[in-house]
Amino acid sequence: MKILGIETSCDETAAAVVKYERGRFSVLSNVVASQSRLHAKTGGVVPEVAARRHVEAIIPVIKQALRESGIKPQRLNLKPPLDAIAVTVGPGLITSLRVGVDTARALAAVWGVPVVGVNHLEGHIYSNWLRRNENRELRTEIIFPALALIVSGGHTELVLMRKHLDYQIIGATRDDAAGEAFDKVAKLLGLPYPGGPALAKLAERGNRQAINFPRPMIDSHDFDFSFSGLKTAVLYYLKQLRTTNYVLRTNVCASFEQAVVDVLVAKTIRAAKKYKVKTVLLGGGVAANKYLRKQLADAVKQKLRITHYALPVTHYTTDNAAMIAAAGAFHIEAGRRTRWQRIQADPNLTL
Ligand code: KG4
Ligand code: ZN
Repeated sequence: MKILGIETSCDETAAAVVKYERGRFSVLSNVVASQSRLHAKTGGVVPEVAARRHVEAIIPVIKQALRESGIKPQRLNLKPPLDAIAVTVGPGLITSLRVGVDTARALAAVWGVPVVGVNHLEGHIYSNWLRRNENRELRTEIIFPALALIVSGGHTELVLMRKHLDYQIIGATRDDAAGEAFDKVAKLLGLPYPGGPALAKLAERGNRQAINFPRPMIDSHDFDFSFSGLKTAVLYYLKQLRTTNYVLRTNVCASFEQAVVDVLVAKTIRAAKKYKVKTVLLGGGVAANKYLRKQLADAVKQKLRITHYALPVTHYTTDNAAMIAAAGAFHIEAGRRTRWQRIQADPNLTL
């Protein structure tokens, strides 16, 4: 089956066409119009500004995704050879979500194809099915029960999956999400929005043991996270310095990244042991972080007696619509679809 995915939950307008056949995906097109340069001016996303940009971008992005996939719509009112539309219905910014949902609803009504609502976090989980094996010693078939660590700008969650589309949140952040902590610390260092990738780049050149930042909740008996204290520790560290220089900044980045990764890896491994999972998955924008990818893969290999570990290809970790279409395929397979009249955005949707 061929599915058109649409994603507009935050500040990326995205559309993709994904083919799903006999358990295998191929991504026929994956178009992402990022608004990050627009939001860099304000140092963060202004919802009204984001929504207006989505309105401008959504139709051109969908047309481009259809064209690049080989589906050449003469006009948008003629049904293309597609089996379904999958759209992000939440969580996210309501004004942004509505642009994608209303567009999907209109296209489903005009084309007469089914539409499925996908949870954005579910999309991040299912980006693991669009994968490539990065770590040859670990196999990438996904066997349940599986544990997914989702780390993005808005979420840090450990999700237990006993089967497809079945989610139990066993841990979550109590304050800042991991990506948010990366972005806030980057801002303290004067790096442009969104700071996560820039901070990670500087971290590669620093000494990870230079500063002993706290590892919040690393030994707590639950699987929750907390990153705001770590961000404050970096703030106080920077405040007491008289001057900074390049080496010092790289050391702050590297030591901060080490602290975040230590907590994420320790909790994921402990949860994987407790729930005796067979596969560990990683998803969300912070899953693009090379150091986290490597440390988690090494820990899975050394500390768990499982051989399965999946990683999404780096360009499917940050927000995109291919992952939404992938999750949509499993919904369609399970017979879950919504009539276009009933599809609705829900900014507070949970898994
Ligand atoms: O999943 P995503 O694109 O959007 C949300 O759903 O939030 O995640 C964006 C987050 C941002 O906080 C960004 O700074 C972070 O992912 N991020 C990274 C890296 N690439 C993106 N954080 C650390 N290292 C990276 N390489
Ligand atoms: Zn996301």
